[in-house]
Amino acid sequence: MEPEYKSKYNAHLIKVILVLIVLGVGGIAAQALFIPSDFGEYGHYRTGAVEDEINRLVRNQTNESCLKCHPFIKKIHLGGVHKTVSCEFCHGPNADHAVDEKKIADMPVKRGKDIKTLCLRCHNKIIRARPEESIKMIAMPQHLEEKRVQTTHICNQCHHVHAPMKWVIEAKKAHGLIKEKEGLFPWMN
Ligand code: HEC
Ligand code: HEC
Ligand code: HEC
Ligand code: HEC
Repeated sequence: MEPEYKSKYNAHLIKVILVLIVLGVGGIAAQALFIPSDFGEYGHYRTGAVEDEINRLVRNQTNESCLKCHPFIKKIHLGGVHKTVSCEFCHGPNADHAVDEKKIADMPVKRGKDIKTLCLRCHNKIIRARPEESIKMIAMPQHLEEKRVQTTHICNQCHHVHAPMKWVIEAKKAHGLIKEKEGLFPWMN
């Protein structure tokens, strides 16, 4: 007859079962504690999340909202080739500057060499993926060499940042290179 190997001790089983019970009860308690009460009311989400999103502060705005408070810039910006370019791209989000029709903090303004970096983020010939027909590209320092100035010149010494061709056109007119009305639309500067 074969010897009986079956153990009569089951303490190890009881330990495992106890651990499972503790984990199960703990899990149910944690679920009750951490899942918000309005979860699952309408679906697999928290009902209050919809309202939270609605009330979230809108950080970015359209150019129109900037222009309401900046009538002088409005005149220049809408009259120039940058009229479609976002104010916030070059400055910063509206929410950090104005809330409820009031200025709350200064808006960042790039100066000096930072202006060059900013302009080249859109106009650098190196960005090959961008079609030349959509945005005119320049190569540096060739662009400045062609104009026969030192390569330390900064873009806004010749281009108005808000209407880049404004001064170029005015200079050309002053030198008789283009006639007052020739070929150019008055709003395209
Ligand atoms: C292409 C980038 C660019 C865009 C687009 C742009 N700005 Fe600017 N803006 C600048 C830079 C750079 C200066 C600083 C000019 C300088 O020092 O010559 C500036 C200056 C200003 C200033 C004057 C601040 C100062 O202290 O000199 C105001 C106000 C302003 N921008 C508002 C706007 C508004 C409003 C818009 C949108 C309609 C806008 N900007 C669009 C780049 C831009
Ligand atoms: C509720 C009105 C209001 C709105 C909206 C507003 N601004 Fe201003 N902003 C001001 C006032 C007031 C000043 C200070 C006086 C001035 O320079 O004209 C100012 C100043 C600035 C300056 C100069 C730096 C500074 O903070 O003094 C820049 C640049 C500027 N605004 C850009 C913008 C841009 C870009 C937007 C849109 C994203 C915008 N502003 C929206 C009221 C506003
Ligand atoms: C966010 C991208 C962006 C930035 C940054 C930007 N530009 Fe522009 N720029 C444009 C667009 C878009 C046009 C209009 C292209 C068109 O309609 O042909 C334009 C047009 C121009 C033109 C006229 C080209 C032509 O002959 O039609 C000049 C010059 C120019 N930008 C200079 C600058 C300068 C200087 C800066 C820095 C102050 C700058 N840009 C920053 C997007 C940008
Ligand atoms: C010394 C003056 C000067 C400086 C500095 C200058 N530009 Fe120009 N840029 C011009 C002139 C003038 C034109 C017009 C070219 C023409 O009509 O022949 C021009 C044209 C452009 C054009 C249109 C190119 C095209 O193919 O039609 C872009 C884009 C441009 N500049 C961007 C910039 C940027 C970005 C900077 C700074 C990195 C800059 N420029 C610095 C004088 C300057």
